[in-house]
Amino acid sequence: MAHDYIKSLKAKIGEEVELKGWVSNKRSSKGLEFIILRDGSGFVQAVVSAEEVTAEVFENANKLTLESAVSLKGKVVADERQEGGVELQVNHLEIYHIGEEYPIAKKEHGIDFLMDKRHLWLRSRRQWAIMRIRNTIIQSVHGFFQQNGFIQMDAPLFTGNACEGTSTLFETDFYGDTAYLSQSGQLYGEAMALAQGKIYTFGPTFRAEKSKTRRHLSEFWMIEPEMAFYDLNMNMDLIESFVRHVVTEVLSKSEAELALIERDTESLKNVKKEFPRIPYDDAVKILRGEMKVKGLTSIETLETDLKNINEQIVAIKAEIAEREEKIKQAGIKKGERNFNLNKIGKLKAEAKDLQERSQNIPHWIESARNFQHGNDFGGSDETVLTRLFDAPVMVYNWPKAIKAFYMKQDENNPDLVKGVDLLAPEGFGEIIGGGERETDKDYLIEQIHKHKLPLEAFEWYLDLRRYGSVPHAGFGMGLERFVAWICGLHHVRETIPFPRMYGRLLP
Ligand code: 4AD
Ligand code: MG
Repeated sequence: MAHDYIKSLKAKIGEEVELKGWVSNKRSSKGLEFIILRDGSGFVQAVVSAEEVTAEVFENANKLTLESAVSLKGKVVADERQEGGVELQVNHLEIYHIGEEYPIAKKEHGIDFLMDKRHLWLRSRRQWAIMRIRNTIIQSVHGFFQQNGFIQMDAPLFTGNACEGTSTLFETDFYGDTAYLSQSGQLYGEAMALAQGKIYTFGPTFRAEKSKTRRHLSEFWMIEPEMAFYDLNMNMDLIESFVRHVVTEVLSKSEAELALIERDTESLKNVKKEFPRIPYDDAVKILRGEMKVKGLTSIETLETDLKNINEQIVAIKAEIAEREEKIKQAGIKKGERNFNLNKIGKLKAEAKDLQERSQNIPHWIESARNFQHGNDFGGSDETVLTRLFDAPVMVYNWPKAIKAFYMKQDENNPDLVKGVDLLAPEGFGEIIGGGERETDKDYLIEQIHKHKLPLEAFEWYLDLRRYGSVPHAGFGMGLERFVAWICGLHHVRETIPFPRMYGRLLP
């Protein structure tokens, strides 16, 4: 008989079960061992009582170290105070492995240490929850496209042509020729859309980003739909319904994991609202404080934020001082002391975050005020812009000079192209880039030359404009940026099992 999983214990109250897993935490008190067992499907408290088991079993329970692997047999009992509402009363225990002293302890570790131990860190509760949310997102992405008549087709990862400019290419040797690792499956996606109508690719992409940022990975996963007979507006409609679908589904399917990582989901619920669509020109005016949104300029909004944040910091500091007084009192109970210590730790972290924001805002104001028309938005510009809206924001009609060679030129203004970026709120910034594709072969050839790309490598791509050329559009969503937004993670390194980024190849 196969063993049971923690996830399904709630339905087995009163029954005898067998669980197999690892000791994620343990504490002992007189005649009792409390084990927090994790088995991949969840976490549960298991109690081994000296009175209920043989001396040998109790001895074995006693010698379990963190991350030791065990099989536990016992009875499931309801206990509302426990995680999952159940507890296991152990009557038998077998040891698979007694773990050596586990390097990840309960105390706070620095991020570099944890990244070095990523292969173990993945076992901890928070990382476990994030990976499950990532899984739900992946499932919802496929669900959306499959339900809407899209065919998944995969683009090659070795390519002979750059898609997103030559500055971030990883070069590799391909039987004596130079090949690049794919920066985007789009060009192949266009070919596949002309074969199937509506397709999407879902695969790894590579960009040599020679700097450490919180939003760039060297290897990341991209979802790229491409649709024949779609224009920019239809593309924006699709982006909106796609993002709304995935977020809504994750909010319901991953509710428990989002709660575990303490994600405030209120702002995510705003995907129900219409996504504002703003031409780049207006976005610049809004950013510079020259155009109001809901009666306020971006600068006024930031100044109000700054004032509020500073007030919050004062209040939090007062609360910390008050609790610090409390724990100094003679005769304070251990439980109350720990509760306050815990609270102080959380408050201090909160104050630190707020202080960072309070220090940043003046710089954001400065750079928003001085933003030059024609430039790409930086991270802080995206934060300022999205701050004025609840839902994610689409910026479209971009300056040609800062966008890729394949973007369709605007009929009314040859300096603009029909690209669109989706910016997530709360400072998460660009999560989607896409647009309508140019169909004019001669214009494309001119652009390929302008971007100093080798024409031979694009001959096959130009065939798509020779045989059955039609208006078409698509977009690319970076999975890790999306996971970061949904989980409220400041840095993309925690959104992928084994991040690859500048300075990080192991583990
Ligand atoms: O905006 P990008 O460069 O667009 C393209 O590659 C198009 N060819 C997509 C298309 O139209 N089919 O990248 C798309 C998205 C970005 O919005 C971002 O979410 C993600 O890919 N992305 C990265 N994510 C992590 N690390 C990086 N270095 C990323 N570069 C882009
Ligand atoms: Mg982009």
